[in-house]
Amino acid sequence: MYAFLWLVASALLFAHLRASTSAVPAIITDCAKGEPVTRNEVYARPLKHSSWSVPPKAETAFNWTYDEGRERLLALYQKGKDKQWDAAKRIDWDLEVDPGDALGMPEGMDPITETPQWRRMSAAERAELSRHNASWTFSQFLHGEQAAMICAARIVEVAPDLDSKYYSATQVMDEARHVEIYSKFLYDKIEMMYPIKDSLQSLLHDVLSDARWDMPYLGMQVLIEGMALAAFGLLRDATTKPLPKQILTYVMQDEARHVAFGRMALRDYYRQLSEAEIRDREEFVVEGCYLMRDRIRGTEVLTNFGFSRAEAEEFENSSELYQAFQQLLFSRIVPCVKDIGLWGVRLQQAYVDMGVFEMGDSNLDLLMKQDEQLAEQLDAQRFAAEECARISEVDATIAAGAGTAD
Ligand SMILES: [Fe+2]
Ligand SMILES: [Fe+2]
Repeated sequence: MYAFLWLVASALLFAHLRASTSAVPAIITDCAKGEPVTRNEVYARPLKHSSWSVPPKAETAFNWTYDEGRERLLALYQKGKDKQWDAAKRIDWDLEVDPGDALGMPEGMDPITETPQWRRMSAAERAELSRHNASWTFSQFLHGEQAAMICAARIVEVAPDLDSKYYSATQVMDEARHVEIYSKFLYDKIEMMYPIKDSLQSLLHDVLSDARWDMPYLGMQVLIEGMALAAFGLLRDATTKPLPKQILTYVMQDEARHVAFGRMALRDYYRQLSEAEIRDREEFVVEGCYLMRDRIRGTEVLTNFGFSRAEAEEFENSSELYQAFQQLLFSRIVPCVKDIGLWGVRLQQAYVDMGVFEMGDSNLDLLMKQDEQLAEQLDAQRFAAEECARISEVDATIAAGAGTAD
């Protein structure tokens, strides 16, 4: 299934160029491979600001009833503690990455290979375009992970229940690990980063500046992380390169817990809300989904290569392949939204309009279970040889000890 999805996804990124009438793209950035990359030169486009702050409006909530807790949430908290890991040790950072072919996708799969623009591009230019695309995608992952870390911390602060605070505290550490991983991958392996997309930042602003305590869950855990998770899954299943495969597989193992938490906490809370309060949240979901579908796109990669924004946007809007890709990004969001009880007529109509309504019937539990199993299988493959060597060593030591006793 995901292999097919990736065929669509990978084709789409380059499909912008197929419809363009521009000359051969002009490459504007090329960090020298092997030289240290500093923070100032790593960005392919200038940062408007090096930092950003959002004033909090939600109230900080203390809870003095330490003996209470929902069994399932506490079990998830225990799992969050048990499954902590060290990115510096579990990931093999010695693996080489070619920045011009970071994910190892076959070149012939890209529609641009059929275009005059592509034929005029040198091998170096094609590799540079591939590098920009990988950089843009993983940079948005990185900025999203920092947002997830901050939202998890916000949930610790504003959630009224202690079991939610416990669990979210483990998630803060998970998300810090993900920030560490994606920033290391971009700095050390791709050697290029892109700023956060304006539309993603705008959605984050709405989520973080809302006074209602459940909005960080809904906006971050369900919408933004849901979209990211779908993209992680596409890349994890399609890449032929071991380092991005490890990164995405292990990050997704953590994310399976985060989605489970958002579903449990919100399902319980939304059962208590009035009809008007539910409709209000559904309206937020509708607006957020349209924004993510229409505005979180890598248009700036193409403008970096000399194509106009209008050319890129025009193709996005008229490309069936691109629209299909945008739909795939909702494969984790729609069933989650339905599961937590936001499934009113207005929301259903919006999903019919977006062509993603049927995704509401996907089995989210099965998808999450598969995410966890894939990480365990990868560990088993990678560490089987080490384990064999360790057992042999133990057997040899025991045998030597037995010989001494005789
Ligand atoms: Fe994350
Ligand atoms: Fe997460």
